[in-house]
Amino acid sequence: MSFDLVLFGGTGDLAWRKLMPALFQSFRHGTLPEGGRIIGVARDDLDDARYRALIQSRFDQVEGAKRPSAEEFARFAALLHFVRMDLSQPAAYARLAESLRQRDAATVVLYLATAPALFTTVCEQLAAAGLNTPRTRIVLEKPLGHDMASNRAINTTVLQTFSEGQVFRIDHYLGKPSVQNLFALRFGNALFEPVWRRELIANIQISIAEELGVEKRGAFYDSTGALRDMVQNHALQLLCAIGMEPPISAHADAIRDEKLKVLRSLKRWTPETLSQHVIRGQYAAGRAGGAAVPGYLGEPGVNPQSTTETFVALRTEIENWRWAGVPFYIRTGKRLAGRDAHIVVNFRPTPHPIFRTPLAGATNRMVINLQPRDGLTLHLLAEGQQSRTSPGAAQTLAPVQLDLDFDRRFGSERVGAYERLLLDVIAGRLNLFVRSDEQEEAWRWVEPILDAWHAGGDGLRPYPAGTWGPSAASAMIARDGSCWLEES
Ligand code: BG6
Repeated sequence: MSFDLVLFGGTGDLAWRKLMPALFQSFRHGTLPEGGRIIGVARDDLDDARYRALIQSRFDQVEGAKRPSAEEFARFAALLHFVRMDLSQPAAYARLAESLRQRDAATVVLYLATAPALFTTVCEQLAAAGLNTPRTRIVLEKPLGHDMASNRAINTTVLQTFSEGQVFRIDHYLGKPSVQNLFALRFGNALFEPVWRRELIANIQISIAEELGVEKRGAFYDSTGALRDMVQNHALQLLCAIGMEPPISAHADAIRDEKLKVLRSLKRWTPETLSQHVIRGQYAAGRAGGAAVPGYLGEPGVNPQSTTETFVALRTEIENWRWAGVPFYIRTGKRLAGRDAHIVVNFRPTPHPIFRTPLAGATNRMVINLQPRDGLTLHLLAEGQQSRTSPGAAQTLAPVQLDLDFDRRFGSERVGAYERLLLDVIAGRLNLFVRSDEQEEAWRWVEPILDAWHAGGDGLRPYPAGTWGPSAASAMIARDGSCWLEES
């Protein structure tokens, strides 16, 4: 199936770091459909040959087996083209449209890897140039807006030009193999569904910890913060995946309808819950990877007086029949003690304990590891050493673990998130993309938090880089009698 993939922002950070490597991997794996063109679009003074040389310089930095040989890169480079465009100039779109029309590919993917401020203009110009044909798909990168109003404005403009079925809103967490495994775990196995409910589950914790700081994105991050950067999208998508009802089919809208219901059922904020159940922090100087690192306020591009949060922990509930009263905790932050994303499902204790356990409150727990490794650990209680060494003593149970390492089982070289998502766009599969109403609902829920922060209040808690964040996050969860995984 022939395709033209037009990368607006073709020389930008996203193309450089994620999209080109993903496209190359897919080319190498033989999964990229034949007869494709990848057309980088940017203002830079380049042509096809210089664009290819630029992309080659990117791969020259790659070490080991992921680095293409000269012959392999030459074959990949034959797919690369460049169109120089000033995105504010209507004539430029007409030229692009003409070159696409001449080739007449079966699918045209327009990937907006540009500053979000340009989305509206680009969509209007694409429409004016007649580029919104039924075979066109448009890909939008997050952040899609800064709040609910700006998100709605972007979606309204986009949907004036393209139908919802043509719009692919990326949340790259949905493309991760570990997140797809979560869907497989829940909806491909009958075992878990009967226990997946308030009667058996005490609480659920979603944690996305990053060891990195803001890197070279200080200016962007300073106007964004952890709530917009990670919670509004990635963490809430994980919460949907763990909390949603089984969809009636694997069709995109069947899945998205169920995720939307979860977002609509999230407990609304009150002044009390906003002050007690949301913790925000900002990293101070500390250590990362064994070296001293500066605090957030010393990062390039960051306002030295900034009150932007680099850490959020919060508690919410899904107010429906299945989950009423079960706390869902979300925690994410930069410069934490390690790169570690996981979901913990804590089960309730047995209703009538007849054994002794060495650890007070030891219960069953399922840990779904998302990264750095993809796996599943089931914490059970079994008859432990103690009763064997002291025969005749009352039976004492000990915690044991069943460990499943999907990376070892399936190989850690599985299809990466962007590779998977790009192939899905080309194939027109919308399952792993976010619908406009989901996005809007997620903004509706985070907005009161943003408003409360904006209205003032001290609230921002420093934490040393290389720790698990402010102690208030542990205190919040401890009030419910629980703790984060690393504290248990
Ligand atoms: C991005 C955020 O969406 O996700 C970054 O903008 C963050 O700030 C990144 O670092 C985390 O993604 P991953 O795949 O490295 O967990």
